[in-house]
Amino acid sequence: MNDNGVDRIQRIQKNPVFQDLYIKLQDAEAGRIFCKHTMEHFLDVARLMYIFCLEDGESINKDVVYATALLHDLGRYDQMTCGTPHNVASAEIAGNVLKECGFTDDEILSIQKAIAGHRAPHGVDADKLTAYLYRADKMSRNCFSCAVRSECNWPDEKKNEWIVF
Ligand SMILES: [Fe+2]
Repeated sequence: MNDNGVDRIQRIQKNPVFQDLYIKLQDAEAGRIFCKHTMEHFLDVARLMYIFCLEDGESINKDVVYATALLHDLGRYDQMTCGTPHNVASAEIAGNVLKECGFTDDEILSIQKAIAGHRAPHGVDADKLTAYLYRADKMSRNCFSCAVRSECNWPDEKKNEWIVF
């Protein structure tokens, strides 16, 4: 089997656990008025992360970047139904999915670390994948054009009041 990057991302897309949790999450968030966790969000995050890599001259594998973004919020369904913090649940789910999709043990560990740490701000010592995920996750949200911005529980200093680039 071809293990190039595109193939590994396609394997995540086709993975039964990924598909099942993705559909459950979409159903659970159908009536949500705040930011949802859709494929559009996952791909916004992936593309922003990859832009950061290019801007910084970082050579993180593209499929590692995309896998991190695709899986980083998948545990939100567990958070909604069982109360498990979604970064913790997503990291665990990612480990299981990635093992079935041709990722190496080292890649899986670094992706899990980034996902587990994506809810907290990171200092200059954070590894690049973790820092890029945190930054892209926040930058992806268009608070400046959101109709329910004033009801959102994000603190004002965290909201994107302008287009960020
Ligand atoms: Fe996210």
